[in-house]
Amino acid sequence: MIPSIDEIKEFLKKLGFDEKSINELVEQIEYFETEALERDDIVRDYLKDECIETIVNDIVREILKLNRENIKILDVAAGSGFFTERVRRKLEESRVKTDVYALDITPSMLKRLNEKGIAPIWGVAEKIKESIEIANEHYGINAPKEFNIVLSTLAFHHFLNPDRVLESIKSVLKEDGKVIIVDVLKHEHEELKETLKDTHLGFSLEEIKKIGSKVFKNVRAEYMDVYCEVGDIIVGLYKGVFA
Ligand SMILES: C[S@@+](CC[C@H](N)C(=O)[O-])C[C@H]1O[C@@H](n2cnc3c(N)ncnc32)[C@H](O)[C@@H]1O
Repeated sequence: MIPSIDEIKEFLKKLGFDEKSINELVEQIEYFETEALERDDIVRDYLKDECIETIVNDIVREILKLNRENIKILDVAAGSGFFTERVRRKLEESRVKTDVYALDITPSMLKRLNEKGIAPIWGVAEKIKESIEIANEHYGINAPKEFNIVLSTLAFHHFLNPDRVLESIKSVLKEDGKVIIVDVLKHEHEELKETLKDTHLGFSLEEIKKIGSKVFKNVRAEYMDVYCEVGDIIVGLYKGVFA
């Protein structure tokens, strides 16, 4: 269920990534391997309790709007599952039967997810459908092909190709499903590319609407009433909702 780095390189080749992209993705993995054990504390440090609660409540409110008794969720680049488990708990408190899967590229994050009882799927956000096929075939799991909700928190600015990630998300979203992205707003702190392995310096609401509109018919982007604190740097968050 949890691949070694050599297996990952093989999977990445099988998924059609070229040498340069494989190296960039392996760099991301190496960085996040070092974060996995502490990831929950890191999130708590970035976002104070009230911000975490606001984010979880906001995501759950969006999910409840689908008005379903059973819901299949995929959390893309779920990390240690900090938000995944909180969203699942809240939905279950609201008596929604919730089937949650979490996809991530970093093996130690998958271990953390597994320990929390969240079904982990090794995979790449740019190729979700194909990653699920590989995981199902290779590890004999039976992850669904489509989901009612595809969620992603604090990860969009890490993706090498955000346009491709949205296309990839669409390929596993049910016809009447919904995508919820929560991430950092555009900022000017170049140093975060080095210290936090950020690929993009966040996105403005205009940018996120533009990227979303290339793939989805209904696109909404809003400021969230929360902020993320990294040392002395304070960055706002947005929510993108696509269908
Ligand atoms: C900043 S963490 C966010 C984790 C989690 N969503 C959270 O809110 O705490 C970014 C996660 O994205 C994963 N990641 C980065 N690039 C990825 C990709 N292309 N495909 C899948 N996962 C990726 C990393 O392994 C890491 O766990």
